Amino acid sequence: MKVIFYHILIFAIVATTFSCKNQDKQVEVTEDTMKNDSYNEPYRPQFHFSPKEKWMNDPNGLVYYKDTYHLFYQYYPDSTVWGPMHWGHATSKDMIHWEHKPIALFPDEHGLIFSGSAVIDIENTSGFGTLENPPMVAIFTYHLMEGEQAGRTDFQTQGIAYSLDNGNSWTKFEGNPVIKNPGIKDFRDPKVFWNDQLQLWTMLLVAGNHMQIWNSSDLKQWEQVSEFGKEEGAHGGVWECPDMFSIKVDGTDEEKWVLLISINPGAPNGGSGTQYFIGDFDGKTFTTDQDSTRWLDLGRDNYAGVTYNNVPNGDRIFIGWMSNWDYARDTPTSTWRSAMTIPRKLSLKKVDEVYELLNYPVESVNEIISSSNNAQDLMIKSDEAMDVKLQHGNTSEIQFMTSARTLLLNLKNTVGDSLSFGMDGKNNEFIFDRRKSGKTDLKDNFAQGVQKMPLSNLPDGEIDVRILLDHSSIEIFINGGQYVMTNQIFPNEFYDTLEITNPTDKPLEISDFMESKVNRIWD
Ligand code: FRU
Repeated sequence: MKVIFYHILIFAIVATTFSCKNQDKQVEVTEDTMKNDSYNEPYRPQFHFSPKEKWMNDPNGLVYYKDTYHLFYQYYPDSTVWGPMHWGHATSKDMIHWEHKPIALFPDEHGLIFSGSAVIDIENTSGFGTLENPPMVAIFTYHLMEGEQAGRTDFQTQGIAYSLDNGNSWTKFEGNPVIKNPGIKDFRDPKVFWNDQLQLWTMLLVAGNHMQIWNSSDLKQWEQVSEFGKEEGAHGGVWECPDMFSIKVDGTDEEKWVLLISINPGAPNGGSGTQYFIGDFDGKTFTTDQDSTRWLDLGRDNYAGVTYNNVPNGDRIFIGWMSNWDYARDTPTSTWRSAMTIPRKLSLKKVDEVYELLNYPVESVNEIISSSNNAQDLMIKSDEAMDVKLQHGNTSEIQFMTSARTLLLNLKNTVGDSLSFGMDGKNNEFIFDRRKSGKTDLKDNFAQGVQKMPLSNLPDGEIDVRILLDHSSIEIFINGGQYVMTNQIFPNEFYDTLEITNPTDKPLEISDFMESKVNRIWD
């Protein structure tokens, strides 16, 4: 079911007081409300971005400018559940430590502000700024609730706004909407980037079961040039939050284009998920000969992720929303709701003639990890288990190397919670089971079964496993990010023991096992 329908009721309740609240908010965002002194609530992530208070979903407008990474996000400042969408804003020098900024975009007469992207218009093609002070331009979807409630299909349109002070204050374009709706109910989430091949702007827009590509010379007038996807990829749900970029295949000069498409529902482990396509783009049309559906992250809590425009060294950095529409509103947090994934660098590898999109934590995360010099080699006999005591509660990094393909891990605490996951060499898959991991009754579909991730293209030999644990999330990266699972967890107490089980008839060897503390990012 589409997310929007869930929210009509909430909107109806707040709609009457909405316009005056809008004004209040501008005043309410003071130095005080931007302090982080509350980041101590149960389940509050300590090294992932979460809003100071209230509801957040998709990352929006990821752009780097003047030594600063901007993170805008879907935000509802009046409640911890989804409501009339604004763009929240935070900035960072390293994508790890964040500073909260005032709300960037408020709803207006054209509608709520849904997901979108941001560019730096260096040549001032839009005329919103000057060559000396180029505008930052946000491109987003307007969602007109009245239109949806009236049963129309044209209630999503595309709008733009600009900032001449590094995203601190914004002016909406008086000619909005820049793309009107041709009668497509789901018509949203514009991703805009500079198209080097044709020297113009390209916009990706999702339209229900496919993506459209539009080009423009000035960000204001757009022309549709192609479409992609009616027959390709997964279609268990509507297409959302597209992104596309070129990237070199590791260790070669070969360049490919990667297209990310989030879908909800229809992910392999249930609810929301992000698929990718590897192909080519000629400036107008995206093509691929990929014949299987590929997923960026097989966990249940990495959705609507997109990448940064303009990262200086050309790195492709991804941030996802660490939740799932199946139960996003029901997670057991009180003052805020939802966090982002750790920012991840994307890379493309050719393994056995197959292109694989890898995602792995950005290097700056290492700055907040205090390695204790306790790398150990462990040997677990056939059919035996070993308990490793954890020193750093739920704010830790656990990593090790192994050439085994079957092993079971179990994070435990003194109140009997148990989060189990591991590799099953017989079936060539990774399994993840949070059914007994702590609080799981938030919604029936939160812990509905064992999650599975095929490890079909894992090379032979030693691989590394890296786990980031942050109070209410676990991110697991296998073989440098070739296989990744991100999940929310709500243990009743910190996990204090990692049980490693060897269910095989051969000894299990683990090398360089290390647990390190990950430091809090909030002041
Ligand atoms: C994805 C999404 C987008 C939409 C936004 C609304 O999670 O449904 O398609 O723009 O959330 O908040």
